[in-house]
Amino acid sequence: MVRVAVVTGSNKGIGFSTVKGLLKRFDGVVFLTSRDDGRGKAAVDKLNALGLHPEYHKLDVTDRNSVARFRDYVRDKYGGIDILVNNAAICNCTDLYLSYEESKNIIDINYFSFFIIQEYLYPLVRNNGRILNISSDCGHLSNVRNEYWIKRLSNKDLTAKDINEFVNWHLEAVQSGTFNRADFADEGTIAAYRVAKVAVSALTIIQQRELYGRNISVNSMHPGLVRTDMTKGVGFLDADQAAETPLYMVLDAPASIKGAYVWYDKQVLDWYDPKADWYFKSITFSQ
Ligand SMILES: NC(=O)c1ccc[n+]([C@@H]2O[C@H](COP(=O)([O-])OP(=O)(O)OC[C@H]3O[C@@H](n4cnc5c(N)ncnc54)[C@H](OP(=O)(O)O)[C@@H]3O)[C@@H](O)[C@H]2O)c1
Repeated sequence: MVRVAVVTGSNKGIGFSTVKGLLKRFDGVVFLTSRDDGRGKAAVDKLNALGLHPEYHKLDVTDRNSVARFRDYVRDKYGGIDILVNNAAICNCTDLYLSYEESKNIIDINYFSFFIIQEYLYPLVRNNGRILNISSDCGHLSNVRNEYWIKRLSNKDLTAKDINEFVNWHLEAVQSGTFNRADFADEGTIAAYRVAKVAVSALTIIQQRELYGRNISVNSMHPGLVRTDMTKGVGFLDADQAAETPLYMVLDAPASIKGAYVWYDKQVLDWYDPKADWYFKSITFSQ
């Protein structure tokens, strides 16, 4: 049986470096995927020049047909997936307050796409497999300052419906002009991205509950502030350095780490601590 690793949004940035690291260490096929064939194939050429050979497939995580085509291809050729890194995302991080349309686009790509991936790709993940959802410091619960939502998101019986209502509460507030900056840390900067990433980390806990019986580990993590296009080159890590913890999580971490929120230094943090100092501070962009 050929083992298979898949990284979404891997034509550049942390996803690209994760593919590069997997090609050096993982005994199996590594899929570099991209929503754009031109960008995807250019990324493959870069790796080929280093003597590394990923398999390429187009994959737009928001496009049900694209995910279904990828699912069919992997299922028919390899039968399953052993490692899945859900990395694809966008962020207009330097625009601190966004319109409804921009907020909706961020939430569709960064959060709602997880349901499409879950529906089509999770059934292919083999027993004992590993799924890593790339979240952010924006995904720690301490980014939320609204008491009602802190309480509801902390519920141990949390459901996807609760998370979707949280996300839609934010979108409706932006749309109706009632968005209250005090509902989030750091005066509500990049609120849609925070909402999407909090939702991803919360959903991770639910996904873990559902996949526990097959001993699949599902975790979310913050990769650090990383010098990629997303941050317009700001950060204290480069993409190769930032890929070290994702690689650790899918290749080396004890399988007992399940449903956790992991920091870029490999520490497992308490996601539920609303008073913690792990939330994103926009000032770090200008330091
Ligand atoms: N950089 C940081 O400091 C930082 C901090 C915290 C968390 N993160 C998280 O780390 C992950 C990687 O970020 P990065 O900094 O490497 O960003 P990046 O360099 O902007 O790369 C993002 C990747 O996601 C892809 N993507 C976007 N929408 C997609 C879609 N609909 N379908 C498939 N792929 C899509 C992009 O493709 P295109 O080239 O086609 O746009 C690109 O390949 C993200 O989840 C991000 O939220 C980053």
